[in-house]
Order: sequence, then structure tokens, then C-alpha cells
Amino acid sequence: MKNKEFPKDFLWGASTSAFQVEGGFNEERGIANSDMRHIPDGLADYKTASDHYHHVKEDVQLMKELGMKVYRFSFFWSRIMPDGENVNQNGLNFYHELIDELLANGIQPFPTLYHFEMPYALIEKYGGWKSRKCVDAYVKYARICFKEFGSKVKMWATINEQMCATAPDDMNMNLEKDPHLRQKNLYQMSYHMTLAEKIATSYFKEMVPDGKIGHVVAMQVIYPATSAPEDVLAAKNAEDEVQWSFLDLSIKGHYSHHFTKYLKDRDVYPEMNEEDLHYLKENHPDFIGVNYYASCTVRAKYPEDECTRMPPFYISDQFYVVNNEKLKPTEWMHFGIDPDGLYIGIRNLYDRYELPMIITENGMAYTDKIEEDGSINDIYRIDYLTKHINQCYKLIEEGYPLFGYCPWSFLDVVSSHEGFNKRYGLVYVDRTNRDVKSCARIKKNSFYWYKNVIKNNGFKG
Ligand code: BG6
Repeated sequence: MKNKEFPKDFLWGASTSAFQVEGGFNEERGIANSDMRHIPDGLADYKTASDHYHHVKEDVQLMKELGMKVYRFSFFWSRIMPDGENVNQNGLNFYHELIDELLANGIQPFPTLYHFEMPYALIEKYGGWKSRKCVDAYVKYARICFKEFGSKVKMWATINEQMCATAPDDMNMNLEKDPHLRQKNLYQMSYHMTLAEKIATSYFKEMVPDGKIGHVVAMQVIYPATSAPEDVLAAKNAEDEVQWSFLDLSIKGHYSHHFTKYLKDRDVYPEMNEEDLHYLKENHPDFIGVNYYASCTVRAKYPEDECTRMPPFYISDQFYVVNNEKLKPTEWMHFGIDPDGLYIGIRNLYDRYELPMIITENGMAYTDKIEEDGSINDIYRIDYLTKHINQCYKLIEEGYPLFGYCPWSFLDVVSSHEGFNKRYGLVYVDRTNRDVKSCARIKKNSFYWYKNVIKNNGFKG
């Protein structure tokens, strides 16, 4: 194998998110929207999750052993502001403890302010992101975090995957029966999120002048199912709808011409105020965080024989998602594994926005099994990560400003629909959906493999 050495200051890391990993329910935190969610198979709710709340020191020692340069995690808004209004100093202290522990072990903290979770009180009072009041609540929360942690934390993210964050109707209480109203709400929520992150960014520049702040996108790489022009157009429309719509607004400060028309034609264009325009135009992110799992393929007409479960943003009258016959679906990844998609997607993003990028999520879900000798031989995950890191290398070699890589996830977390049946971690958490057990940490083979990648700063031939 060719020697593939990454730049000296490349940020090797790993990711988690608060509501999926922390647990510690009823301990210094209020009810979150995520607590109200039910995972179909059993009791793997977010109340215990991976019990990180009670394993902070042990988890940071594992990160240190792995050689991580950066840890991408998120703050639990409901721990910091249980009722969405008042500050809980003990909640802040928990993050001081985590951040101090990371810094003492040479790991850079990289928090996201909003990763799908918010105090349930904000949903009850205002209907969450549907209301402009939620913008004010987010900005207040962001300023508290900047003030509290800004002297120690220099790399931040505003909102994780805006597209997916507005999509789950149950977490956002977007439960109107009328589909048109639901769709209208969805774009209004999405608009409020952009506005919130832009206003927060303006405060960030004042309050943490030596820090960097970015947006995290669920990168969409969309292929036409055939070379028929109507399918090519469907793919272009899909990209407009699920990728550029959010990012154009947050980065360029306006929707694209076609997407504006799309929203107006359907009477779902969000309500905006004159004074918002100033915030939208300014306050650019310093970088883009990129989450990528797989590409997706679309066609113009609905194929009778195919139907895949899709998040709401993929339900559109302009395109239909289908299987890609060139890619092999896996147990949990319906679209199939596509490392080239990572390369294609990053090129697209760079061509449009010319911002530095860090991979904030990339990973392989599997129902891992503990072998009789106690090991977890997740060779499939090693293969997946190797192929994607190779694409990162190729991008860097070609001069794209990709400055870090954080696989999802550092340890097993509650996955959004399947709980602990579906695992992504480098570290196994010993629990099932129905039995919390001890939540003991067990290093998978991918842990040892990734440790070597970091040690060698890439792949040694
Ligand atoms: C990303 C999210 O969309 O995908 C994570 O940022 C999530 O929070 C991850 O866990 C994997 O998705 P899932 O549905 O398999 O848990």
C-alpha cells in the first residue's frame, strides 16, 4: 500500500451527541424533546443512553488511548437550561468537568450547540422551532455557552443537520394533520434555525474572537437513476431541495432562484422580517462540518415496485428515491456503501462555498456481536472507514481544505430509530434495548485499527 500521510495538524477525532450518549436523566437536567420519543423495539430510550454522564473520566481515558486530537460532542440544552429559560449552574459544571478533562488529556473540545435536542418546555410553550421565540431562546442559550466556555473552547458548531433536525415530526411536535401545514411548518422551522445560528454567530465573533464556528450539514450526494433527462433533472431538483436550500440561506444569505420559486409555488415560503436580512447576509461560518453516510439515487417517476422509508425532506413531488443497483445495500444501510460519494460531495460543497471542511460524522452501522473470547471483530467497519479515509486523503492530496475526520461514533449510542440494535461505535457499550446492564465499555477491533491510523497520521504502506 502507498504511504498516505496526512497533514501534520490534521484533526483526527470521533463524534457523539448529548441526547444519544449521556443519559443522566433526572440528574441536573430538564425533560427534553428526545425524552418524549419512543423507539419501537423496547426500552432503549434516551434516559440512560450510553451512560456517559457517569463515565466521563473513563470515556476520556479511552479517547486519550485512541490518540484523538479532537472530540466532537454536543451540549444538552436541557441540562444547561432545564426549562429553556433559567440557567442550571450544575449543568454547566458537568461540561466544565468534561472540557477540563479533555484539555488535560490533550484533546480539543468541539461542541455542537444543537444536536436534535431542546428543552421540552420550549415545545410546550412555543411549539419549538415553529415559533420565532425559539430563535431568541437559542440565542440566549448560545450566549450563555460562549460566555461560560469561550475561554477554553475554540472550535464550535451551531446546529447539527438542519435538514434532519426539522424532519422528525414527533421530536418537533409538528403533528398537524394537514400535510400542507406540516410542510409549511417544516420550512418555517428550518428558516428559524438558520436565523438562530446566524444571530448566534454574530455574538460568537464578538465574544470568542479567537474561535471558529461552523454549520454541520447532512451532506447529500444525489445521483439520477438513469441517463434520461427527466431523471437528471429530478436529481438536480433533489439537490436543490435537500442540500442547497439550507446551506445557501446560511452561507450565501438567500435561497437559490429555483428553490425560492419552489417554496412560493407551494405556498410554503417562510415568514421573514426585514431586519433578519442583515443577519442572513453577514455572519458567515468559518467552516462546514460534513456528515456523510451514503449517497442516494432518485428518479422522476414513482416506481411501483420500489418504496424506501424516507425522512420527510425526501418526500417530494419533484423526485422519488430508489435503490442504486450499482451499490450493495447492507443490513442497516439501505442505499449501499459509497465512498466515492464522499469525494464527489466534498467537491460539490467546495465549488459552491469555498470554505474549509471537517468530516463531523461518517460511519458504518452494524449489529455487532461479542465473540466467545470477548472480542468484537468489526472488520466491516474497518473496511468502511478505510475506504472513506482514503477518499479524504485523495481530496487533501488534490488541495481541498479538509482539516479533520471524526467518525460516528466514538462509542455506541442510541441510534435514532433502532436504539442499541444498530451500533456505530469504535467502543462497544454493553447494554441492550431492554436491559441496561452495566454499560461496560469494550474496545472493538476498529478501535485498535483507528488507533494505528492516528498514530501513523494515515496509512503506512
Ligand atoms: C446523523 C445524526 O444523521 O446520523 C446522528 O447526526 C445519527 O445523530 C446518525 O445517530 C446515524 O443515524 P441513525 O438513524 O442510524 O442513528
